[in-house]
Formats: sequence, C-alpha cells, structure tokens
Amino acid sequence: MQPTTFLPPFPQAVEKWWWMEACNTWPEISEDKLLNLIRKELVKQSDRFNKFRDFEPESYGKRDLSILGYGNFYFSRTWTAMTYAFGEAIHLRGWVPPKKGPIRILDLGSGTGASGLSCLHMIRSLGIDNHIQLEAVDYSSKSLAFLKKLHSAKKELWSDTRVTTTRLDLKYPSEENYRKKYDLIILGYSLNELLDDKEQDDPEECYKQVLHSIPAQLKSNGLAVITEPAQSNLCHLLQQSSAEVSKTDKDLHLHAPYFNGMQCPLAESNSKFFSHEVRKTLPLATVEKINRPLNLEIREVKFGLSMLGYAIPRNLGNSYQVCRLISPLKKRKGTVSFIGMAANDREYTYEFQRRDLEKEELNDLMYLARGDIVKANMPEEAISANERIRISGMDKLHPLYMPRINHSENKPS
Ligand SMILES: C[S@@+](CC[C@H](N)C(=O)[O-])C[C@H]1O[C@@H](n2cnc3c(N)ncnc32)[C@H](O)[C@@H]1O
Repeated sequence: MQPTTFLPPFPQAVEKWWWMEACNTWPEISEDKLLNLIRKELVKQSDRFNKFRDFEPESYGKRDLSILGYGNFYFSRTWTAMTYAFGEAIHLRGWVPPKKGPIRILDLGSGTGASGLSCLHMIRSLGIDNHIQLEAVDYSSKSLAFLKKLHSAKKELWSDTRVTTTRLDLKYPSEENYRKKYDLIILGYSLNELLDDKEQDDPEECYKQVLHSIPAQLKSNGLAVITEPAQSNLCHLLQQSSAEVSKTDKDLHLHAPYFNGMQCPLAESNSKFFSHEVRKTLPLATVEKINRPLNLEIREVKFGLSMLGYAIPRNLGNSYQVCRLISPLKKRKGTVSFIGMAANDREYTYEFQRRDLEKEELNDLMYLARGDIVKANMPEEAISANERIRISGMDKLHPLYMPRINHSENKPS
C-alpha cells in the first residue's frame, strides 16, 4: 500500500534560523546552558498543556525566552500539524487557489507563524505561483515581530508572498474584520487558548463567538482549517462547536474530519475514542537535543481537525466501506484490527485474520495511521452483529487519503 500523497518536510533552514536566534540572543552562554534555559521554559509550557494552566496564554509572547523556547521546540510540530491539515484541504477536500489574483490567507492566533508559514511553504512546494498575502493576527506584538523577521530572512522558502500583521485580541473581533474575504482562514492550536481567560464570564461562549465570526470572512470556495491539541475535551468542543456553526448557516458545510458534511458522532457519544490524528514524525536534531533529559513525546504529531466552507463537500462515498481511522492498529495473536468512523455515521471494527496476511501485507497494514481514510471493498454480508467487518485480504483495502511526509527532501544530496 503506497501513500496517496507526499507532503513537504519542515525546512531545515527554519530549524537553523530558530537556533541561531537563540544563540544570538544569549551569545555569552555555552550551548549546554542555553539548552537548559530552554528546557526549563518548555517544562512550564508543557505543564500548561498537561497538568495545570497557570502559565497564561499571554506568556507565550511576552518574553524572548518563551518565544525562542516555542520556536526551537513546538514550532516544527504545530507547523507539521498544519501541513497535514492543509494538505488534506488541497489533496482531498478540493481546496483550489483562485484562477487569477492573489491567494489571501488569514492566520488567527498566528504566534510566530508556524501554521501560516507552513501553508505558504506548501503552496510554493506544489508549484502554485499566485502572489500570496498572509494576514497574521495575534495579541502578542513580540510574536508578530518574530514572524515578520523569519518571513523576510527565509524569502526563498515562500517567494512572492507578503505578510501583514495585526495586533488584536481575538476575544473582541472588530466589525472592520468582516469586510475582507479570504481563500483560507487558519487557526493553528490557538482556539483553545481562548478558553483560558479567567476574566471572561463564559470562555466557551467566546470560543464559539470566534468560530461564528469566521464564515463571514470566507470566500465562496474558501476553507477554514482549524487544528487543536489532541485532548478529548478540546477535540469534542471543537467538533461540537463546528457542527453548531454549520447548522446556524445552512449554506456552510463541514468538510472534515469526516464525510458529506457529517458531524462528528464521537463528540456526543460515549465512545472511548475522540476525533484526532496521530502522525509519526522524524524529530528535528534540535528538538532531540533539547528533549534528551525531558523525555517528552516527540515522534508523533497529534491534533484535532475541523474544516468549514461554503462549497459542497467532495463526495467520497457514504457507506460502511469508507472510513477514517479513529484508533491505533490492534495486533492480536489471530487478528489485526482498527476502529473506523464510517461515511454512514457509524463506528465499525475493521478486522483481518492474520492467517490471511503475508508478512509484507501485515507490515503494510501496520503502516496505517490514525487519521488515514480507507475504503474496504467488502459486501454487506461481511458485517457481523457487533459492527465488526471482516476484511478477507489486503487486496480489499484501498487508501483514499494516506498522506506521509517526504523526509528524503531534507536529506543533503
Ligand atoms: C499555541 S500558540 C499557537 C501559535 C501558532 N498558531 C502555531 O501554529 O504555532 C497560541 C497563540 O494564540 C495567541 N492567542 C491566545 N489568545 C489570544 C487572544 N485572545 N487573541 C489573540 N491571540 C491570542 C497566543 O499569543 C499564541 O501566539
């Protein structure tokens, strides 16, 4: 089974740029000391995601240390999540650039630009040559300054593009904003940040308000692409709120993570799974070096995804045969299986007998990842009473969307 799509890897030039920024900020200290300084900062940032939220969202952008810590560690990860998400918009969901004129992108909660610059880089990697205007919005002026600096330092990665920045608190969107329309609106790991405000009466309301403000800024064939950290509460909230927004406006459709505009059934059910992707990644040398004593998870990129747009969602089929993997692969003595959310709104276990698989076929099967979309060409009789679908062989399973990063692009020749 071959990947359906190869996506560009995170550029080494950007990795080097972030490391040089850190070295130039503290030229007097040794590499070991610098690594330790960054590690201490990252422990604070990661505790914020994993344990307690006393590290305020504003703290990302206030100090050089938090920006350089994020830049050298998390930046490549949120970039990669957006590469997968925007890759799906282009390669599966039918996003196309305007026939002529510039591509206009709005990046809400852009920070130092991981998600926005990832989109610019992907568009250029595909040979799309429209001029691109990226408008980055964040309330941290320091982060926006870093974004501009990186953009102009590495022009060759995104030729003929322009970045404008606006310092704005997303909790108070201004009327002014709704006048412009965009081909692409992205929110990379930023929506959940709005839930943190202790002063806000109802942070969830504010979160929904931001989501509701997006459609008015979309062109008729534009897409809003949202990634969030892979935590069940955040992913459920993302899916529930996206469904609400699409119900409020009958012309607006949900394009992802599922099919034919369907809402995420997991957000309302007691399923043990929640909608998110888990993609293997090759960590950068800098990330590995920083992580050595920290032991954070760096070999996987995990994220929740939602896509909204006015175009009719592309039809990939609507039966039990088409599904998105929502579980890891489970290898037992006699069987290999995964859980899929099917295009008929139901959850099935797709199961192979190991005796039906050659060694190479088993490897192929284990190469599938949570988030891949496949089609199982099996007749209805293959469905048993407990929503289990027996697949008689690998020749019956076809990838519809199986993206992988082409890491060989980064290797020196
Ligand atoms: C986790 S970072 C993500 C940054 C970037 N989008 C990425 O993909 O790496 C969240 C960003 O949201 C910004 N943010 C949080 N709350 C905000 C608000 N109310 N208004 C504007 N920006 C906000 C923070 O300053 C930070 O840059």
